Amino acid sequence: MTSAAHTDSAAAHLGSALPPAVDPCALSLNENPLPPLPAVRAALVDFIGAANRYPEFLPTQLRKLVADHACVAEENVALGPGASGMAMRVLQTAATPGERIVLSKPTFEGYPAFAQMAGLTPVGVPLDNYGYLDLTAMAQAAKDARVVVICRPHNPTGTLETIADVERLLADVPADTIVLLDEAYIEFVAPQQRIDVPRLIERFPNVIVLRTFSKAYGLAGLRIGYALAAPELAGLLWSMQVPFGISAGCTLAVAASYQAEAQLEQRIAHIVAERGYLRTRLRASGVYTTDSHANFVYLPAAGRPWSEIFADSGLRVRNYADGAVRITVGSRSSTQMVLSAVEQTLNAPADSPRGQTPPAAHNRRGPQPVGPAATRWPAPDRG
Ligand SMILES: Cc1ncc(COP(=O)(O)O)c(C=O)c1O
Repeated sequence: MTSAAHTDSAAAHLGSALPPAVDPCALSLNENPLPPLPAVRAALVDFIGAANRYPEFLPTQLRKLVADHACVAEENVALGPGASGMAMRVLQTAATPGERIVLSKPTFEGYPAFAQMAGLTPVGVPLDNYGYLDLTAMAQAAKDARVVVICRPHNPTGTLETIADVERLLADVPADTIVLLDEAYIEFVAPQQRIDVPRLIERFPNVIVLRTFSKAYGLAGLRIGYALAAPELAGLLWSMQVPFGISAGCTLAVAASYQAEAQLEQRIAHIVAERGYLRTRLRASGVYTTDSHANFVYLPAAGRPWSEIFADSGLRVRNYADGAVRITVGSRSSTQMVLSAVEQTLNAPADSPRGQTPPAAHNRRGPQPVGPAATRWPAPDRG
């Protein structure tokens, strides 16, 4: 093979590594189902034209953009490759191997992995009977820990702790324990239920808020996340900013996204409405979902594992070992595929392979699951 032909075939092969922007079956990673907004796309095309050039040595322009948008000072902001990259940097710079990290169980699967990479000992605190974080138990466990992670909304359940409950935890946690408040899905939360972060980091110098452009902003492929914290902690994180580490494309895409805020808000409202529709239809079929404030729904284990119900659907959803499933809210066609997989199981004759062992919750036309899940997930929606 000539070297040109070799290069062509390598490029063709790599092409398969580019996921399709629109894919109604991709419901496992809580991505935005829509491709970038036209203005963001145009900004990225501009960037490609100068891709031979390095970006800024340190991403000061992006820092300013984010600070202004979040209504904090630049000294309160650090930037990284996704919220994941920021979380990893927090654990590596602010904690020492061997120290403890308090995580709810289950949580975003990244956290146990990051804890392991940073050499920290995870202390798991099970969710309470209603699928919410057990903040009292977490505050107690935080007394001997270096870091405690609160995802608000939580992943995988989508549940939202009240502002008062989070503040109670903060008042209870030792001042030298870092509270990582993960707000990866905050844009899907009603404005009145969002925490006043500028005030929070002023009052609690041990809090680090993590946010991402991967979810509501629909830029998961660009890997942009940030941390907001009091100047001392944010400064520590900023001091570990890798030189030339954030592409100029990221800065341009964020600037264009902020300018197109109204269009983004429409997209977010659409996803929130679709979440409501999916939950309502599932409820009408007797299927219980937790009170999600994010861009996904969570169906607790209810007898037969949900993985079996979705196995032949063609959908990629996030299955859990206990039989639960988390499903990203996508387009209406995704919703229809989810509902049709569930309804086919419900309507299958009892002696058919699909109908043999429907999950217990499917047999009830009520708001509450029955079977093993009943004791763990009995709660109606909270606010
Ligand atoms: C709670 C939570 N935090 C952080 C992340 C990581 O997001 P990013 O793409 O910014 O690394 C995710 C991704 O699913 C998440 O669910």
